[in-house]
Amino acid sequence: MAAVYAVGVGPGDPELVTRKAERILRSVDVILAPVSNPVEASVALGTIREFIDESRQEIIVHQFPMTADRARLVPAWQEAAALIAAHAEAGRSVAFITIGDPLFYSTFIYLLRILREQWPQLTIEVVPGISSINAAAAETALPLVEGDEKMVVIPATAGVEQIQAALDSCETVVLLKVKPLFSAIIELLRSAGRERRTVFVERVGSPRQKVLTDFEEIAAYSPDYLSLMIIK
Ligand SMILES: C[S@@+](CC[C@H](N)C(=O)[O-])C[C@H]1O[C@@H](n2cnc3c(N)ncnc32)[C@H](O)[C@@H]1O
Repeated sequence: MAAVYAVGVGPGDPELVTRKAERILRSVDVILAPVSNPVEASVALGTIREFIDESRQEIIVHQFPMTADRARLVPAWQEAAALIAAHAEAGRSVAFITIGDPLFYSTFIYLLRILREQWPQLTIEVVPGISSINAAAAETALPLVEGDEKMVVIPATAGVEQIQAALDSCETVVLLKVKPLFSAIIELLRSAGRERRTVFVERVGSPRQKVLTDFEEIAAYSPDYLSLMIIK
């Protein structure tokens, strides 16, 4: 039985891949990379291209539909977990790669539950990665929290009421998955008077990185999925 690794590869910059992640990724037999859109390249795989050797390692790109519909998600999770288990049981070490950290809003969390339940004999090692939040804060040199301050992280898909409640109770609010609710978020921040305390970061750590601090520029922008906001 070979080992299974969940490897966080950071936000997209190969220099932000940890040495441990690099060592494991160079050594495993199989790398499983998630993708949400079949015509788009895997961001995680793009980040680690320079560390892998396709003549020696098997690279599998697995599609996880971008939906909240569990009837479509569960079969994709189950299929990926079965693939990982089959390789490990055949003696091939497997790394499932994720952007940022594997235990922070990651598909790997669902796979981990299935693997633990259905293949309890597997040895699973999780390798932490630098999350998009830390990378975005670093890029803007914006202190996230200090002293007694509190920070809340909300997937914006949770809705504007949750965001409003967080703004009322914490010094720092980080919004992930901002794309679907972007205009509602902009309106909320305007009415809460947080225009000058908002930073928008898209595709941090990649050549397509975009950092906006001017609220009107943020409001006029059309974000893609890999974007977040930090509100102080
Ligand atoms: C499913 S969560 C994955 C979080 C990831 N595991 C992490 O540790 O950063 C996806 C959300 O994370 C944020 N995100 C991930 N990578 C990003 C990046 N490179 N730049 C900006 N935001 C990013 C976006 O808000 C995106 O909608």
